[in-house]
Amino acid sequence: MAQKACIFDLDGVITDTAHYHFLAWRRLAQSLNIPFDEEDNHRLKGVGRMESLAYILDKGARTVSDDELASLAHQKNKDYQDLITGISPTDLLPGILDAFAWLKSHGWLVGLASASRNAPQVLAGLKITEQFDYVADAGAIPNGKPAPDIFLDVAKAFGLSASQCVGVEDAVAGITAIKSAGMYAAGIGDAAVLTEADIVLPTPEGLPEQVFSIF
Ligand code: BG6
Ligand code: MG
Repeated sequence: MAQKACIFDLDGVITDTAHYHFLAWRRLAQSLNIPFDEEDNHRLKGVGRMESLAYILDKGARTVSDDELASLAHQKNKDYQDLITGISPTDLLPGILDAFAWLKSHGWLVGLASASRNAPQVLAGLKITEQFDYVADAGAIPNGKPAPDIFLDVAKAFGLSASQCVGVEDAVAGITAIKSAGMYAAGIGDAAVLTEADIVLPTPEGLPEQVFSIF
């Protein structure tokens, strides 16, 4: 049987850090008197730090100097890092450890395709670093999600074709990235939002039965 791989997103798939990104972005937007709501949040899920900041400034019709841009990005990241201090295995979403166990016992490779430069720290806090055969370096990927680059980077590291990989994502931009890469896309969240996904589950519970075992 051909080798298979599962490539996970991190924030909102493995742990609920998507909510912490939202809180930190909303705080920054509020400090600039720019409205920021759930719809903005959906758009920014999976989107890199500088691109997200550009979206918020654009929404507020604001132009800032390069120095201010760097300082705003730094502030958001500082707030985010404060929120993830103390992240621990109790913050894993339900079903994630079972998914890792199933993948290991069935000989699949496991990769991470997170846009977050904080991913290594989050994995360490969750004590799951060793579950991954390869972790993409977000800082080394030229085009962020919805471009397919980060998922293709993981497939390349494994020496696999896209058709041998399942991607798991909670973000609209992430599902687009997986589909553009030519992979099978499992969405975690709301099927009415993740319309491009091949299958959508409310949580990672059920991944082994409803996704991996039928792939
Ligand atoms: C993604 C998150 O995983 O990482 C986004 O969904 C976030 O919300 C992006 O903006 C970049 O994260 P960081 O930690 O590098 O600012
Ligand atoms: Mg995500």
